[in-house]
Amino acid sequence: MLRLRKENRSIFVACVTAVVLTLTLLQLWPTDTINPAVVSAPEWPDIHTQQLVERACYDCHSHETRWPWYTNVVPAYFLLAYDVQRGREALNFSRWDETCCTEEQIGEMAETVTKHHMPLPYYMVLHPESYLSDVERGQLVYGLMDIMKENLD
Ligand code: HEC
Repeated sequence: MLRLRKENRSIFVACVTAVVLTLTLLQLWPTDTINPAVVSAPEWPDIHTQQLVERACYDCHSHETRWPWYTNVVPAYFLLAYDVQRGREALNFSRWDETCCTEEQIGEMAETVTKHHMPLPYYMVLHPESYLSDVERGQLVYGLMDIMKENLD
């Protein structure tokens, strides 16, 4: 009995050491959090819409991402960088004229914000300032629809 427990203990210690070592070594992975230059941005019709979008969407949908300190911790870096990359591919306020907009994008935006899919829920937990009330959600959708329609391809 005692021997078995000892064995278990050394297996446990070996596993913990392996995890700690892997996490430590992963920190050497280069983290690229330099924002590319802004190519073109929307002409905001009013400051309110601009402020709502900057507050709730810009970190993932623009080149003006405020990368938090934990981006430099590697498993977090992979998750955040992946979301920012996919976010910028879907809608990019810093490459506005080049990437916006189709009817489909406008429809998706209205749906995704109204159904509370955006901002991503985990992001709102980490950034409480991005939380939108129902009234703000409505204002954001209408404001964005206006500027997206102006740029309709
Ligand atoms: C934490 C990062 C993050 C934030 C903040 C964020 N998004 Fe996204 N967004 C994403 C990602 C990642 C995708 C790609 C999702 C996919 O491909 O499934 C996406 C996709 C989208 C799409 C494409 C349609 C869809 O639902 O896949 C729209 C439109 C969109 N976001 C709008 C917004 C708006 C408007 C805001 C602000 C209210 C916002 N997002 C905030 C990460 C974010």
